[in-house]
Amino acid sequence: MLKLVSSVSSKREGILLALLLVSLLWVSGTNLGIRESRSASLVQDAFPEVVGGGKDKLTGDREQWRVQLSWPTKEKRIPQTNVVNHAPGWTIFDNLYVLNGTVYVVTDELETIPPRERMISTAINVRNGKEAVAARLPSDQEMRIISTEEARKIFGTAVGVIDGVTWLVNDPPQFITHYYHWAAELFFGFWRTYSSLDPSLPVTGHTPLAAIRRIWFAHTDSDHWRDYAHMNEWILRSAFPSLTSEYLNDWKERAELGRPFILDRVIFSDRAAAMHGLDFIRTERIAAEAFTLPGSPHWWSTIRGDIVKFAGLDEDIGSGTSHTPVITYISRQEWGRRMLRQEDHEKLVEELNALRDKHGYEVNIVSMDKLSRIEQIRLAARTTIMMGVHGNGLTSLVWMYPSPRATVIEFFYPGGFAHDYEYTTRSLGMSYYGVWGNETFTSLDLPPVKYPEGFQGNDIPIDGTVVAKLCQDRISVK
Ligand SMILES: *[C@@H]1O[C@H](CO)[C@@H](O)[C@H](O)[C@H]1NC(C)=O
Ligand SMILES: *[C@@H]1O[C@H](CO)[C@@H](O)[C@H](O)[C@H]1NC(C)=O
Repeated sequence: MLKLVSSVSSKREGILLALLLVSLLWVSGTNLGIRESRSASLVQDAFPEVVGGGKDKLTGDREQWRVQLSWPTKEKRIPQTNVVNHAPGWTIFDNLYVLNGTVYVVTDELETIPPRERMISTAINVRNGKEAVAARLPSDQEMRIISTEEARKIFGTAVGVIDGVTWLVNDPPQFITHYYHWAAELFFGFWRTYSSLDPSLPVTGHTPLAAIRRIWFAHTDSDHWRDYAHMNEWILRSAFPSLTSEYLNDWKERAELGRPFILDRVIFSDRAAAMHGLDFIRTERIAAEAFTLPGSPHWWSTIRGDIVKFAGLDEDIGSGTSHTPVITYISRQEWGRRMLRQEDHEKLVEELNALRDKHGYEVNIVSMDKLSRIEQIRLAARTTIMMGVHGNGLTSLVWMYPSPRATVIEFFYPGGFAHDYEYTTRSLGMSYYGVWGNETFTSLDLPPVKYPEGFQGNDIPIDGTVVAKLCQDRISVK
């Protein structure tokens, strides 16, 4: 209020203003009790043109400033760690502690805590073999599970507070720097885990869940979480514009302080820990573990909506079954690896263009790497049927609207199959077809995972007529 007065140019105006305020205080009479603590609103009521927003001047209508939590006497209890939701590799903790680079679970109810190796690993690169698996098993260096009595001894009587919601990524860069593994595995699993707290999340994606305050990459530096196409940061920054990041060096820096912190709420993700789960073993998708938690069928709509809006489109784009269908063929013909037999590619393009000419469908034949990031998202968001050879370009399917017609068609070298895009499509509630030349299969009759010779080659056959017919069938779905 002082600031306001001093900004008024002449002294006389200042006095007049003060008088006016005093008389207003007088008039508000019985309301005074409530208003005393919200002086900014009072000024705002009197001079709405002077004070912007409707925010409390002292607090900005934000939460309280908490720096430390202490338990100076035996009577004051140490907050125990609560495992709010858990699947292998994906754990939501309240009151998680960190000290010296070690995560501490404080509890007097050991039976509520899942096995340690299902929550955390040593965060080294994932390799095959028994020794590699053993090397990923956590020790007391990574996580300790202690009683409140031990906590009193180790932490002393106070801890620093890290408020709000933190996403703690315990993985090394190995898989993070890849758009598919980031968007459709880590980010996917993370959001599926967090949104498990709102199983009635509606189709609009609006949720009362608290905003994510920050992401901590405990084992990844600031140069090793982005992908070559820079989609990773686009996604993170558009879905969570106010989120801040800390990295490996910050994690070490906090460790070297030698003082404990308590984190209000943590979504803790660990790839190697997820690999202990049965659903991972079945699908080879770490996100599959998160899907064992409760959740809404519309769980992804929050993120998709925000990202599509950030790209300048309406979040409903692509919904319904009555608009002109949009077919998008993501071509790899200039990529140099895993390409269609050239004449089959040309025949497919011909068949798709025939659908366009005959039925008025929109047909796009694109190389994702030739589009800007915003164009990629906008195109995917409008797409009804997305198709292409198995590869990173298909990651864009996560921005499609999961309407009843929404379909992903993936081409493999005959006999080959991998779960990546099939699983991702299915987990969004969309239809999936794999194609081997002139043969198709769906999520209901999947072949086993196989990478036969030819899988990575440039002689993948495809029958354009079969694919065009499949498009027609899918578009007729109402
Ligand atoms: C913290 O780490 C340092 C060195 O890494 C060690 O000397 C110290 O005992 C640790 N403290 C606790 C409480 O674990
Ligand atoms: C499908 O393709 C295989 C291999 O090219 C061929 O032998 C077979 O006749 C084709 N089937 C039909 C129905 O076109």
